[in-house]
Amino acid sequence: MTSPLLAKVSVAVLLFTVLVHLQLEAQTQAKKSAAQGEEVFGRQIKARVDKLLKQMTVEEKIGQMMQYFQLTPDTTAAEERARKGQVGSYLFVTDPAAINRLQRAAVDGSRLKIPLIFGFDVIHGWCTIFPVPIAMAASWDPKLVEQAQTVAAKEARAAGIQWTFAPMVDIARDARWGRIVEGAGEDPFLGSAIAQAQVRGFQGTRIGEPERLIATVKHFAAYGAAEGGRDYDATYVPDVLLWNVYFPPYKAAIDAGAGSVMSAYQDLNDVPATGNTFLLQDVLRKMWKFDGLVVSDAASVFNLTTHGFARDANDAAYRALKAGVDMEMAFPELNIPANPQMGLKEPIIMPGLHTYDVALQSLLKSGKITEADLDARVRPLLTAKMKLGLFDNPYIDEARVESVLAAPAHRELARTAAQRSMLLLKNEGDLLPLSKSTRSIAVIGTLADSAKDILGSWVFAPAKLEQTVTVLQGIMNKAPSASVTFVRGAQIKRPFPSPVEPPQPPLPDQSQAELQQEIDAAVAAAKQADIAIVVLGERQNMSGEAASRSSLQLPGEQERMLKAVAAVGKPVVVLLLSGRPLDITWASANVPAILQCWYPGSEGGNAVADVLFGDSNPGAKLPFTWPRSAGQAPLYYAHNLTQEPETKKNFKSRYWDDSSFPLYPFGYGLSYSRFEFSNLRLDRTEISVGGQIRASIDVQNVSDRAGDEVVQLYTHQRAGSASRPVRELKGFERITLSPGEKRTVTFTLGRKELEFWSPQTKEWVVEPEQFDIWIGGDSKASAHAEFRIVRTD
Ligand code: BGC
Repeated sequence: MTSPLLAKVSVAVLLFTVLVHLQLEAQTQAKKSAAQGEEVFGRQIKARVDKLLKQMTVEEKIGQMMQYFQLTPDTTAAEERARKGQVGSYLFVTDPAAINRLQRAAVDGSRLKIPLIFGFDVIHGWCTIFPVPIAMAASWDPKLVEQAQTVAAKEARAAGIQWTFAPMVDIARDARWGRIVEGAGEDPFLGSAIAQAQVRGFQGTRIGEPERLIATVKHFAAYGAAEGGRDYDATYVPDVLLWNVYFPPYKAAIDAGAGSVMSAYQDLNDVPATGNTFLLQDVLRKMWKFDGLVVSDAASVFNLTTHGFARDANDAAYRALKAGVDMEMAFPELNIPANPQMGLKEPIIMPGLHTYDVALQSLLKSGKITEADLDARVRPLLTAKMKLGLFDNPYIDEARVESVLAAPAHRELARTAAQRSMLLLKNEGDLLPLSKSTRSIAVIGTLADSAKDILGSWVFAPAKLEQTVTVLQGIMNKAPSASVTFVRGAQIKRPFPSPVEPPQPPLPDQSQAELQQEIDAAVAAAKQADIAIVVLGERQNMSGEAASRSSLQLPGEQERMLKAVAAVGKPVVVLLLSGRPLDITWASANVPAILQCWYPGSEGGNAVADVLFGDSNPGAKLPFTWPRSAGQAPLYYAHNLTQEPETKKNFKSRYWDDSSFPLYPFGYGLSYSRFEFSNLRLDRTEISVGGQIRASIDVQNVSDRAGDEVVQLYTHQRAGSASRPVRELKGFERITLSPGEKRTVTFTLGRKELEFWSPQTKEWVVEPEQFDIWIGGDSKASAHAEFRIVRTD
């Protein structure tokens, strides 16, 4: 006989099962109808686009394929172009009133009333500036990255932008390359996770969500492998690196739904990316099934002639069109008068750099291209505009813009993001955090007081310098009763202006005598103070586009100043503002505490002070390997081992003048807490090809301070059809642990994590071999286990 209790339990189990079933059914239904909705929406848009295409003249189609820079406030000529249907998009218009004005010209003034799409490089914020992308990647916190780009999208969209030229997902393994600051560093696994988070943040779950933008994954492809780290220079990247290292973040961004792709400036294996059919057709559209829009980089179609690839502008247009560039990012004629006060010694007189509108008509007439070729390029452009809702809702509410930009939640998130990207490189004797009752502080270094520099590159008019918190201000906010002495110290400046930022008044020069005076003042301030905080690094225009360097040394006489201050004998904290690893070999050996602050954005100074005084506990980790000097470039942790490592006695291949080890390894970063890893275990020791394995580890906070650890998993395949890197990141999770707390972190490895593109078979393979696993707090993790993949067929 069944007991009443058992009967009740059985009924409960039955009910529970039915409920779960119903819920699952409901979820499946919801997903199905969402998918059906999307499909209907897609079909409707396709029908609208087809109908519109039939009404368009050849001139109007070509007009849609043009995107022009609009760099001056006078929009008269640009409006005229819009009325004539000779342009599909403008970039770099930041004034909402100008955007509405131009849109009105297109919508009310042009024959087919096709709206313009406005693009801009919303890279790390619009008005509220978040830390630069490399800093956001250092947070190892994709959720945070997504939230930040959601805010950036919201602000930019309110102001009239619908399309951002981000994320830049180029892998960078050479810190001389200035644009390392714009990406997520050297690693494809971390880079893919950050790329996807950015796309989700900008776009939401689908193109056309309110308050979102279309994301552009750039620069396709392998732009970060520039020879010698020189920006725009040619890249030579073998297939094995393209597939295993450079392509994955682009693919990840496209899988996350990125609506557009930007073709890169440079030659890839001798074929310029903007005319590269292998990249833009075979890989992007055929293999990856990308159906969004491809935009060229600025004037990169025109520049196909410079490469010695296209014969002339006509040929350039032909090659870019055939390769699959839908929209040409072009320059109109420029005539900007000289303005020495603003650093513009000569006028900028530049002929227009554009080809599609000049060449496509005659290419059509000569039969080299067909109208179907044009339609194939115009279709994604019109589709994007329709998905965004621009045909139904082309204008913005100018009165609403300021209130969106002023949302306090945006500033709060910017502060959290900056805190979470602060990276503690050294903290000897637990010098940090400082006590809030510190009586006197010397703050030394010109960067400490610069609102412009703390924001980083890609920051333009919408950001408000007067609302930016500098390091100096942040420290004074945090320790109001301390006496703070500021000394500007050594001047830092580029020897010539950056070509990619608006003209600005030149910084004053500093004579040797003035420099000595500043150093003396810094020494005197340090003598008087309990602690010296020395802020060093690069100005924002020394890092970014067209900001490559041949050396990684601290620019100017900053190191001389640091040495003089350190010689005083007071405790010294170095704060680094930079977008690349700098040569800080001397500081790392001689200064007790070093905090990498990056360019932390609008709330940067407050966040720096939060970390300095312990209101926030640093937890970021390096997204690149920190070299000792430029001479080590390219330097990355996932290298192959072609002989015994440097730690072994018979090691031969090394520099005679330096170590071949980095200064700090990939994944490295300290915390005010201490963590211990124990009990690494696998749920099995053998899996079949295509199977899964779970690895778990216990992580304990063994300090009396709550803090974050980024738990990182690395694998190594011991043998196979190709040599494999010594370690590869295949899992990570940033966790917060209270004092004493212990938590188990589990990672699952499957096909995606265990496969690689084999140069022998020329395809993705999972090979039946022996594998190592390490889990820990950086790429030197020591907790180890191993497993085997076996063939079961
Ligand atoms: C850069 C791109 C950028 C474009 C528009 C180019 O010089 O390489 O990354 O999106 O300008 O500003």
